[in-house]
This record gives sequence, C-alpha cells and structure tokens, in this order.
Amino acid sequence: MKILALIGSPRKEGNTDILVEEILKGSEKKGHKNEKLYLYEYDIAPCIDCRACKKADYVCPLYDGMQEIYPKMEEADLIIFGTPLYWYGPTGKMKLLIDRMRPFVANRKLEGKKFVLVTPSEEGADACRPIVDMFNMSFDYLKMRFIGTLLAKAYEKGEIKENQEAMKKAYEFGLSF
Ligand SMILES: Cc1cc2nc3c(=O)[nH]c(=O)nc-3n(C[C@H](O)[C@H](O)[C@H](O)COP(=O)(O)O)c2cc1C
Repeated sequence: MKILALIGSPRKEGNTDILVEEILKGSEKKGHKNEKLYLYEYDIAPCIDCRACKKADYVCPLYDGMQEIYPKMEEADLIIFGTPLYWYGPTGKMKLLIDRMRPFVANRKLEGKKFVLVTPSEEGADACRPIVDMFNMSFDYLKMRFIGTLLAKAYEKGEIKENQEAMKKAYEFGLSF
C-alpha cells in the first residue's frame, strides 16, 4: 500500500511530525511505501471558488504547490492528515489544502481511499471533537474511508516523546495498516 503523510504543522520535528513518523515506522515494518510532505514547504493559495474544477477536466487552474501534491494524493491508498489543533480546527495551511481538494468532488479520484487524522493538542482528545467531525464529514463527502484518529496531549515542541503510551499507540497504529 502507498501511504502519503501530510504534515500540517509549521514545526518540523514537532509533536505532529513525531507522531506521524512513529506511525510510518510501524507501517514500513509492514512493507508499506511511505512518503511524507511538509505542507509549510509548499505554496498553497486559497480556493477562490472559480468553479473551474466542476467543468471539463475537473482540475484546479491555480498553479502552485498543489499541482505537485494532487498527483501524490491520487496515487496514495491511504492519506495521513497530520495537524496540530489550532483553535479547535486544523492549522491554516492544512485548511488551505482541504479547500483545494474541491476538484475531488467532481473527479472522484479519492473515492475509496483510506485516511487517518493525527492531532496533538494542549488540551487533549476531548477538545478535538470539532476537528474530528470536520474531517469525518468533509471526507465522507468525498467518499473516503475514515480508519481512525490518533489524538494526543502535548504542548511544547517534541513533548510527545515523553508520552510513551501515545508513542506506542502511534507505532501500533502504523502496524495495523
Ligand atoms: C495558533 C495556535 C492555536 C492553538 N489552539 C489550540 C487549541 O484550540 N486547543 C489546544 O488544545 N491546543 C491548541 N494549541 C496548541 C497546539 O495544538 C499544541 O502545542 C501542539 O502540540 C502543537 O503541535 P506541533 O508541535 O506539531 O506543532 C494551539 C497552538 C497554536 C500555535
């Protein structure tokens, strides 16, 4: 299986990155092929609701980093969305990517693909209800298959490493793919 991990935190080696890396270690052990992208390294413009993606070839006419990311999403069997909780939602960068997923409504290229959500936060799992609902409802609309979340409590950069339980859960999550 091809796994694409999208890191929506601005902090490399931050809590999101560490958790996703641990998941990927587990999935690699199972022989899956992984690729990880840091969204903050990509220029992603906001969707402007031009509706071009609803016509003809069902592609987005905005020419930016998404043109590199779209084919990777299309080729993946499972997509890991990693984002810290920012105001009970994803980071702005992750939201930009989600808004730009609109071509997939018409071209249906993500239908049947699996996805997971990985979200560290200061407050922990209870505070993640809105983001879990958002991902569930949005990607259900794209007919993607939600296979689980990894929600963990952490605040300072790298603090998640001290949470042995979350690290173990992450590795085992990857093994379960
Ligand atoms: C702008 C901003 C908003 C945040 N909002 C929340 C929040 O609503 N609830 C929460 O529990 N943590 C919130 N946090 C804390 C982060 O989710 C937390 O520090 C997380 O571990 C960061 O992950 P990272 O290391 O992968 O960037 C916020 C942090 C920032 C910078």
